[in-house]
Amino acid sequence: MAWWQSAVVYQIYPRSFADSDADGIGDLGGIAARLDYLAELGVDVLWLSPIYPSPQDDNGYDISDYRDIDPTFGTLTDFDALLAAVHERGMKLVMDLVVNHTSDEHPWFVESRSSRDNPKRDWYWWRDEPTNWRSFFSGPTWDLDDATGQYYLHLFSRKQPDLNWENPEVRQAVYSMMRWWLDRGVDGFRMDVINMLSKDPALPDGPGGDGSPYYLCGPRIHEFLQELHREVVAGRDGQLLTVGEMPGVTLENAKLFTDPARGEVDMVFQFEHVQLDQGSSKWDVRPLRLTDLKRSFGRWQSGLAERGWNSLYWNNHDQPRVVSRFGDGSPEAAKMLGTVLHMHRGTPYVYQGEELGMTNYPFTSIDEIRDIETLGHYAEAGPASFEAVRAMGRDNARTPMQWDASAHAGFTTGTPWLSVNPNHTEINAEAQRRDPDSVFHHYRRLIELRHDEPAVAHGDFTMLAPQDERLYAFTRRYEGTELLVLANFSGEPLEVDFPDDAEPGDQPGAPPQASGIKLADAAPADVAMEATQMRRYHEVWVEKNGGRTLLGLSGIPATRFRGVVRFLEEFAGGGDADMARYADEHSLSEQRYFNLLCMMFGHDPRSYSWVLDKGLLPEARAARCQNESDKIFKAWGALLSPHFSPSFRLARQLAQ
Ligand code: NOJ
Repeated sequence: MAWWQSAVVYQIYPRSFADSDADGIGDLGGIAARLDYLAELGVDVLWLSPIYPSPQDDNGYDISDYRDIDPTFGTLTDFDALLAAVHERGMKLVMDLVVNHTSDEHPWFVESRSSRDNPKRDWYWWRDEPTNWRSFFSGPTWDLDDATGQYYLHLFSRKQPDLNWENPEVRQAVYSMMRWWLDRGVDGFRMDVINMLSKDPALPDGPGGDGSPYYLCGPRIHEFLQELHREVVAGRDGQLLTVGEMPGVTLENAKLFTDPARGEVDMVFQFEHVQLDQGSSKWDVRPLRLTDLKRSFGRWQSGLAERGWNSLYWNNHDQPRVVSRFGDGSPEAAKMLGTVLHMHRGTPYVYQGEELGMTNYPFTSIDEIRDIETLGHYAEAGPASFEAVRAMGRDNARTPMQWDASAHAGFTTGTPWLSVNPNHTEINAEAQRRDPDSVFHHYRRLIELRHDEPAVAHGDFTMLAPQDERLYAFTRRYEGTELLVLANFSGEPLEVDFPDDAEPGDQPGAPPQASGIKLADAAPADVAMEATQMRRYHEVWVEKNGGRTLLGLSGIPATRFRGVVRFLEEFAGGGDADMARYADEHSLSEQRYFNLLCMMFGHDPRSYSWVLDKGLLPEARAARCQNESDKIFKAWGALLSPHFSPSFRLARQLAQ
């Protein structure tokens, strides 16, 4: 299995991450200073949005030199130092590859536009007449260049002319640049709008100005990506990561792009799930229907089950913040959304600040917006579009990272290039690192779980309750383990009622141990409370191990028995103070370990005497746990008692 199947990627948007030189713009020094934070979160790979020299028309997605660093961000020497520091911490670093277009200030384009017979003329798309295509950033995709009297193509801004990939010299120049970065030690590429490389050379008019049929996944796209793979990636040590950003990619095509046998890319970013709350364009905002979201994810999960691989994301620098978009901005919603995404099969991507539950910005005026796409739309659509701008604008994701409660959130000591969200006094990394129940620690545990629990990385996926508009439920199975994830998307308390006749595993998609138990009806004995009722935006875990059921409380899966055993070992013979110390050191609340102990005792009464025999737990504490576990098992008896859990055996093995 490939290493990235159990990896989590963290996206850094460098302008907004951390500023080390007080110019108000994030930089490499800022990233270097925050690597320990990222290591604590536990992510495996960092992806940097573009840091190359650029006029910054589209915040660096308009590159004027592929082999250097923009002075705003630092130097190549700073970059090498950063890369080494990332590697020292056991993480990898992936660069953004933007080769559908360059900046109009790139020497290639400067030459190309200089005369009709310049050798680089054909490196870009020049035509006597424009087509009717509309640009992603509003307006036409063609600009007349007065000097030579021809139009050049730009799918994005007029400062982002499209490269002509039909020309083999262009392709070789790109491959050589990619090899240069890999030789420098980088670990792969996130490939910007990579499915736009191949265009129908006839460049016909599109229906209603939509040229996408002629540039999305065009006729030679697979050929180009295979060539790129052969020339750049193949023959390296298999430790690289390639992910292609592919707007509009279909599932059928994604299967081809990510089939390892074809040698194209490891995974793609598809866009279906982030367009479900939109009508005719991204600015036509509609409410999300959960059933649509489940249908979409379910289709991609099963479509890429046999061959290919999914990437999983809610957020990036182009999307509004998910906790505001699909939730109510609360930490509960952030945790629930994180759990749902991270428990799918695929490689999860965390966008900076998502692990804190950072929200959309409360924009009140267009003057606060810097993003070229949003400004272009507003200029065309007028003030009536402001609500949509607030909801969908890309600057929501680009406000500075919230490190602490101080002025400018600890992002800069200068004036930030984009305003800091005023809620940084509540939502910030410093506070969350101290709080074991924070969104940060929830994400940290989700990431840890992907590393430790093979069912998360490799298990199959079955969507449950596809028609339910409030509950997101699915199972993951791998060898003897089954995980059930239940997430309440509704923002209201929710009763979950499984059908009476479902038996575990007797039909695909049957919820395990359903037995007619209404989760909300099972008497909510103290500590079992959280599992019996699905509070708003809450998620619950049930793990079936070898056909037996374990319940995880407080959103912690019961697979954490390793943690329980470590806990028992560490505070063997100690008292409450030790327990508190341990919980503190491991950023886990005492209540959580207590809950897990209860579950362990409840599952196998022998575990109680084992713990006492070994002197692992003071008697009073053990008795309290057992007492609680009795209560839980009374409440959950019908669900649990027929099943004998292997957890005790597992715990013992792990302790040895
Ligand atoms: C996709 C990038 O994610 C986005 O930020 C950029 O504006 C366009 N590609 C153009 O490079």
